[in-house]
Amino acid sequence: MSDGSIDLAKDARAKAYATPLEDFNVADPELFRTDSFWPYFERLRKEDPVHYFAGTGEEDDIGPYWSVTRYKDIMEVDTTHQVFSSDAHLGGITLRNFDEDFVLPMFIAMDPPKHDVQRKTVSPIVSPHNLALLEGTIRERVGQIFDALPRGETFDWVDKVSIELTTQMLATLFDFPWEERRKLTRWSDVTTAVPGSGIIDTEEQRREELLECLAYFTELWNQRVNTHGGNDLISMLAHGEATRNMEPFEYLGNILLLIVGGNDTTRNSITGGLLALSQNPDQEAKLRANPDLVTSMVPEIIRWQTPLAYMRRTALQDYELAGKTIRKGDKVAMWYVSGNRDETEIENPNAFIIDRPRPRQHLSFGFGIHRCVGNRLAELQLKIVWEEILKRFPKIEVMGEPRRVYSSFVKGYETLPVRIPV
Ligand code: HEM
Repeated sequence: MSDGSIDLAKDARAKAYATPLEDFNVADPELFRTDSFWPYFERLRKEDPVHYFAGTGEEDDIGPYWSVTRYKDIMEVDTTHQVFSSDAHLGGITLRNFDEDFVLPMFIAMDPPKHDVQRKTVSPIVSPHNLALLEGTIRERVGQIFDALPRGETFDWVDKVSIELTTQMLATLFDFPWEERRKLTRWSDVTTAVPGSGIIDTEEQRREELLECLAYFTELWNQRVNTHGGNDLISMLAHGEATRNMEPFEYLGNILLLIVGGNDTTRNSITGGLLALSQNPDQEAKLRANPDLVTSMVPEIIRWQTPLAYMRRTALQDYELAGKTIRKGDKVAMWYVSGNRDETEIENPNAFIIDRPRPRQHLSFGFGIHRCVGNRLAELQLKIVWEEILKRFPKIEVMGEPRRVYSSFVKGYETLPVRIPV
């Protein structure tokens, strides 16, 4: 950490400890843009682990919500899907409800039984067999991206590596027209951006762009619906028993789920890993001395980064959690980013340790019936990235602070300046 960021962290801590608990609005995206949310969660875990915020009353307020901040309580909510619903019509999986006139059903925002059948339809794409087939393609593309990177000059790692790599991966999964693959990046950003954050200005703009996405993917669907044997995600949806009669918005919802699921999260883990190593030179030295540690470092990066800070649920009935009564209809945020730093569950949780004994003990992929479908694919991508980095670059220098995303849901980076010495 630079001196400047140590000062900022101290200020954030003083502020968090001076703020009354009832005023804690941990979903404020500004806390995430400035990376100052940590002490708020630290306090909540200790003093009020299941916390109620009544809302700000401002015009664009997301309204009242509960924050669940301890590892065990998060597991309890995530695995009690009979009580804690993901249904889009109740608001879905982010604290900001889906726009009433523009509800996009997708299986991450559905409850059983529909969730289960749709999930089953897309799961084969990430079967061990398919991943083995994909490994060679990923490795080749990663290698090409790395070999083309500039030497001896500062460039943006997010744009040139993290975005390019995950976008290529997605284009492969959808068998998407190669030259137009950055459209996928744009649609992913548009789906998750808060209006006014620099990506979109209004909800209308979001709707317009997502309708363009629907038109584009409908064209691809029409091309593939009568052809058999396609091993891509669109063909799987077009032929799947549970998905072939989807309404257009349902198709759009599921496409966006796969785009966002496979894009932002992995992208931010690729950047986060580089940042974590540059802030922890002892761990980098350990890795370079023993490249086999990539295997345990990858899940540690995913824990340390926690690319999705929370998932939201809506209570279908009253429920007691850690001595608090959550009422039917209440919104509940499971803060994975806090559970992953729960000192009662994970030893020395704030440290980045690439050879932890149980590196997969984290909440970043969620738990229960919605546990991330793409977790092994994400790990595979990150493993290949680090193996190929270690083969090529003795050093990648981080040249300045990252610019962080203005969102409390997608926890990530807009830019990270780096340089590869000549
Ligand atoms: C490091 C990378 C990733 C992280 C941290 C991540 C995280 C998550 C989380 C937190 C959930 C919800 C879990 C819950 O509600 O309990 C989820 C679900 C999902 N993820 Fe990922 N994800 C990653 C990569 C991917 C990739 C690469 C794909 C696809 C290619 C993907 C596709 C999905 C899908 C389709 C779901 C919905 C599953 C369901 O509702 O049953 N994810 N992911």
